[in-house]
Amino acid sequence: MDATFVQTPEIQALLDRVAGVESTGGDQRMKGIIRDLIEGLMVVIARYDVSEDEVWNAVTYLQGAAAAGELGLLMPGVGLEHFLDLFMDAKDAEAGLVPGTPRTIEGPLYVEGAPIVNSGANLTSDADDTDTLYMTGRLIGPDGEAVTDGLVHVWHADSRGFYSHFDPTHEQTPFNNRRRLKIAADGTYAFQSKMPSGYSVPPGGASDRLMKALGRHGNRPAHVHFFIEAPGYRQLTTQINFGDDPFAADDFAFGTREGLLPVPNRQGDSAHIAFDFHLQRSGDEGDEQFSTRKRLAVEPAPEKEPA
Ligand SMILES: [Fe+2]
Repeated sequence: MDATFVQTPEIQALLDRVAGVESTGGDQRMKGIIRDLIEGLMVVIARYDVSEDEVWNAVTYLQGAAAAGELGLLMPGVGLEHFLDLFMDAKDAEAGLVPGTPRTIEGPLYVEGAPIVNSGANLTSDADDTDTLYMTGRLIGPDGEAVTDGLVHVWHADSRGFYSHFDPTHEQTPFNNRRRLKIAADGTYAFQSKMPSGYSVPPGGASDRLMKALGRHGNRPAHVHFFIEAPGYRQLTTQINFGDDPFAADDFAFGTREGLLPVPNRQGDSAHIAFDFHLQRSGDEGDEQFSTRKRLAVEPAPEKEPA
C-alpha cells in the first residue's frame, strides 16, 4: 500500500464530505484548507504506513503539548514560525517594499502590560550575579530620518535562561527584564539590564522529545526580543542573538537571522551592544498593529509614590 491509496475514489469522496464540499453553508476557503490539511495527513499515514497505535499516540502527544503550554515552542521548533517570517518577507519583496531591519520570530514569552519607562532605563529589577548589558542605538526611517516617537518593547531571559512570568522557580518579580522604552526625542534608545543566557526547551517535555526523535537539540543562543511601534511606521517584531554564543548559528527555533547577530563588546563585567533599527513606513493603519496572537496579559503594577 502506498500514498496512491489516498487518490482512490472512496477516499476522495470521504475528503469531500469531511470538508463539506457539497454543502452550500460554511466558508469556501476553510473547506479548501481543511480538505488539503486532512488529505496531507492521510498521505503521510499511507506513505509511512503509520499504524493505528502511532496515530493515537500522536493525538495524545499533541494533547500533552497543549496542556503543558508547549505548542508555542513547537511552532518555532518545527520551523513554522520562521516560515511565516520568510513568507511575509517574500510577499513584501513581491510588493516592492524596501526592507528594514529583518523581522524574526516573536516566540511564546511576550507579556502585555510591561511598565513604560524613559529611554536609558534599567530593565532588571532582580539581583542577578552576571555582567551588565548596555544596549544603545537609533531608530531610523526609510529616508534616513530619525524616528522620534514610539515604544521599543524589550524582553529577555535572566542569566539562568528563565523569563519572568514563565520562571519554573517563580523567583522573579513581575516584569523583570521586561519594559516598554519610550524612544528619545532625538530618535535614539538606550537601556541597561543583566546579561541574558541562552536556554533550552523544558527537559522531558513535548518539544524536547520531538527534538530527540529528530536527532536535534533544543537550545537557543542568548538573545533579546523587541517589538517596535512608532506612529507612521510599520510594527516590527524582531530579536538580536549574541553573535559570540555557541548556538548563534544553530538556533533550535530558527530565530537567528543575517543582520541580527551583533557581537557584544565585552569589557570587564559589562558588555555593550550598539544596534540600529531600520523601520518601514506604514502603508495603512493595519501595518502599525500587532498581530492578534493571544499573549499573556498582566495588569501593570501600580505606579510607586515617590519617597
Ligand atoms: Fe526568547
